Amino acid sequence: MRTRPFGEDSFELTELCFGTWGISGEAYGPTTDQERDALLERALLLGIRAFETADSYANGALEKRLGELLPKDARVITKVGTRRDMTPARKDFSPDYVREAVLKSQERLGRECIDCVMLHNPSPKALRAGKALEVLEGLKEQGVLASYGASLGSVDAVRAALEMKVPAVSVTYNVYHKNELELLARDLDRRIGVLVHSVLAHGLLSGTWPANKEFLPGDHRNDRWSRDGLKRRLRQLVVMRPVLSDATPTLRSVALRFALSHALVSSVVIGARNSYQLDQLVREAGKGPTYLEPAAIEGIRERSWAAGIFS
Ligand SMILES: NC(=O)c1ccc[n+]([C@@H]2O[C@H](COP(=O)([O-])OP(=O)(O)OC[C@H]3O[C@@H](n4cnc5c(N)ncnc54)[C@H](OP(=O)(O)O)[C@@H]3O)[C@@H](O)[C@H]2O)c1
Repeated sequence: MRTRPFGEDSFELTELCFGTWGISGEAYGPTTDQERDALLERALLLGIRAFETADSYANGALEKRLGELLPKDARVITKVGTRRDMTPARKDFSPDYVREAVLKSQERLGRECIDCVMLHNPSPKALRAGKALEVLEGLKEQGVLASYGASLGSVDAVRAALEMKVPAVSVTYNVYHKNELELLARDLDRRIGVLVHSVLAHGLLSGTWPANKEFLPGDHRNDRWSRDGLKRRLRQLVVMRPVLSDATPTLRSVALRFALSHALVSSVVIGARNSYQLDQLVREAGKGPTYLEPAAIEGIRERSWAAGIFS
């Protein structure tokens, strides 16, 4: 699998990174341990050597399993800052908590040095306070982690990360959601590590859903869209249709390659839930570059604006 640099003076990541939220049993409904392990093994077999997780996914169980299963040459990016020892869970980016959380992740992952630790959706205020970032920088100097950054949930958080010169970020990026990455592309004055996730808009951009799509109880997508909102989003998929071709025969392949095409992106975090989906994504990523012709991307942008898709 092709690799790309994860920021300046850092390591390379495979351009597809396996995201583990979908197999945590929490986001999209239950998953068995066997399904989880089979999928991780399949990802390795297909050449994926980047894995994205969080200490909060399955309450640390995913980190532990990655620690047991992954070979040494596989890179792990994890996230800290969500306290699940409290009910309801809450964010904590205090220096003591962040240090303790990283050391626990290190133990679960069974690695002397974690490839990358990100703050898990800190507020702009928590980022600007700088304390959590100082802790991560200190742990990097001690060799506990090789790089660090922040997963960012808003444009304001991206602004704060730019001000604080955060060395690596993870943001949502897809045809329906571009603001954070576009702000980075406009205002970055140096090379940083960039992961993008939710490139299928939680499955919507796969183009396989019926207009009356239903989700099982416990699936986070129940809370994402109203019935009418989902129907509108599905109608808007029409903006990708003109790009269908022999090389990109499905809307899913267009959505995936849309993300792979962005020059800033180090790796695209994919969220396959079974081996069939994983194989499709790896196959449809193609042999790029060029993943999508610039004119095709421009066409999607123009039609998105015309269709009122600009979040
Ligand atoms: N804060 C952060 O840093 C952050 C936030 C979100 C996600 N992430 C990471 O990124 C990963 C992916 O993000 P995501 O789950 O938000 O969204 P996503 O990748 O846009 O969508 C994942 C969903 O798309 C569907 N899908 C996957 N492969 C498919 C295929 N080949 N054909 C058709 N449908 C397919 C599956 O849903 P069905 O059940 O409908 O099949 C799957 O659960 C997560 O696992 C997580 O590790 C990180």
